[in-house]
Amino acid sequence: MNGEPFASAPNVVGKSPVSTTGVRPPSHIPAEESLCPVLSHDWVNAEYKHLVVAASSKALSVTPGQFFNLLCPSPDVGELFFRRPQSVYRIDRAGGRIEFLYKCVGRGTRGLAMLRPGDDLNMVGPLGVGFKLDPAWRHVVVLGRGVGIATLGPISQMARERHVGVTAILSARNPDFVMADALFREAGDVVSVLDSDGTSAVENVERVLHDLIAQKQADAFFTCGSNRLFQLMKRLGRAHNIPGQVAMEQVMACGLGPCYVCVRTFEVNGKPELRRVCIDGPVFDLQEAVGW
Ligand SMILES: Cc1cc2nc3c(=O)[nH]c(=O)nc-3n(C[C@H](O)[C@H](O)[C@H](O)COP(=O)(O)OP(=O)(O)OC[C@H]3O[C@@H](n4cnc5c(N)ncnc54)[C@H](O)[C@@H]3O)c2cc1C
Ligand code: FES
Repeated sequence: MNGEPFASAPNVVGKSPVSTTGVRPPSHIPAEESLCPVLSHDWVNAEYKHLVVAASSKALSVTPGQFFNLLCPSPDVGELFFRRPQSVYRIDRAGGRIEFLYKCVGRGTRGLAMLRPGDDLNMVGPLGVGFKLDPAWRHVVVLGRGVGIATLGPISQMARERHVGVTAILSARNPDFVMADALFREAGDVVSVLDSDGTSAVENVERVLHDLIAQKQADAFFTCGSNRLFQLMKRLGRAHNIPGQVAMEQVMACGLGPCYVCVRTFEVNGKPELRRVCIDGPVFDLQEAVGW
């Protein structure tokens, strides 16, 4: 009414920075709903798709570990009532692009998989609290499995940009599911561990981590995607006094804080504490998270 953009009207990439009334969308609000054109959308293996969109300037302010809540088209005649959270896999600020790497598991992601280049993806974000990179760290270790590998991409990218060494340990069922190794190779060293040859066993990953600690290449730990690998990093982090962060996944509804669907228990100074994964996380201190 007063010329302010209506709260639920999505920002359209390339069109919305100044509305027809000449009013800019509020700059003090960190997230927005935006319609982002799909640039490419390809299968990387039998289960995962790689989605690239042209992003608004606010969406491009996303930091590693943050996520977007995506409005997925319905894959059938029913409605999809909730958005689906997806963390970013790669941020290309210069090129104005955001990338997602996601697993097709249910109705939401099957609907998402139908989007074709030229379609618009409705995204809300960037949301949540992402990873932190301490300037004192010289070499960090990222350890991911499954969809967790996607979430660890941007922190590895950020570490490389800041001249911090990265060793990425990527755990997968077999070589087909070692995704994004090219992205991680750009950032540093990659160690693939597989179920198919037994190298993904916790004892073997522990040995790899012990070697990195001995070589002073583990100033910090980052992990996502596997409870047993999270528990391993937490145990070694505690034993060797290595700080760490874990990106957690939790079923969400609003993704914005009010519904409390995403509450999990954490352990802070020996006491249980409830936190919302969507706005207190999804990235948490490794020692305060209790696993799943
Ligand atoms: C912060 C965050 C980041 C994520 N990043 C990625 C990513 O980069 N790549 C990727 O493949 N997946 C990621 N996920 C998981 C992704 O959100 C789910 O796989 C997806 O919501 C499943 O939706 P669906 O309708 O296809 O499946 P269904 O199983 O049919 O989903 C049913 C409902 O459960 C919710 N849900 C189901 N599984 C999850 C889950 N693991 N986490 C949260 N909500 C879930 C859905 O949103 C939906 O409301 C992330 C989850 C969170 C919370
Ligand atoms: S999803 Fe609603 S509060 Fe976190």
